[in-house]
Amino acid sequence: MSSSARHEGVSLEEIRTQVQACHACPLADGRTNVVFGDGDPHARVLIIGEAPGKNEDAQGVPFVGAAGKSLSKLLAIAGLTREEVFIANVLKCRPPGNRNPRAEEIEQCTPFLRDQTRAIDPEFIVTLGNFATKYILKTQVGITQLHGQLQQIGRFKVFPIYHPAAAIYDRKKQAALEEDFATLGELLKK
Ligand code: URA
Repeated sequence: MSSSARHEGVSLEEIRTQVQACHACPLADGRTNVVFGDGDPHARVLIIGEAPGKNEDAQGVPFVGAAGKSLSKLLAIAGLTREEVFIANVLKCRPPGNRNPRAEEIEQCTPFLRDQTRAIDPEFIVTLGNFATKYILKTQVGITQLHGQLQQIGRFKVFPIYHPAAAIYDRKKQAALEEDFATLGELLKK
């Protein structure tokens, strides 16, 4: 079945509207944009990162900085383009200081990622890095142990991978990332 045949009704606009409530959240104060996500709302693959950085906050689009360039190359290894997947973050606003998301911020954002996931209804969820992986899998096991190991959570296949930003200066992680994206490509052929 084609992905669009699975749920024809959901438009990017609907997903965007769901997240507009973020603007009313006090945690959105001082941030330039709510970075709700980007890509195909009927995607078979939902990519989940941690939170917008400076570039993402400025442009309102996830993964547009150095990690984004790396992500685009890695997606190509799996035979995917940015336009074919949906890219979102656990947090829709840039955390203060661009790191260390606060517990109350995570809690405020949680319903939006849940709604996005339900609306997109992907087959695969790819979690990038420790934070997203622990959040989605509700585990304390780190990404070093989990990366490249397919998990089943309800009806979703969850595939944890290192965060592309963590691999920029680490060749071993870069090699693992490339291997894991190649594995993702194989899984998508099945
Ligand atoms: N890192 C993330 O986790 N998300 C982004 O959108 C950008 C960098």
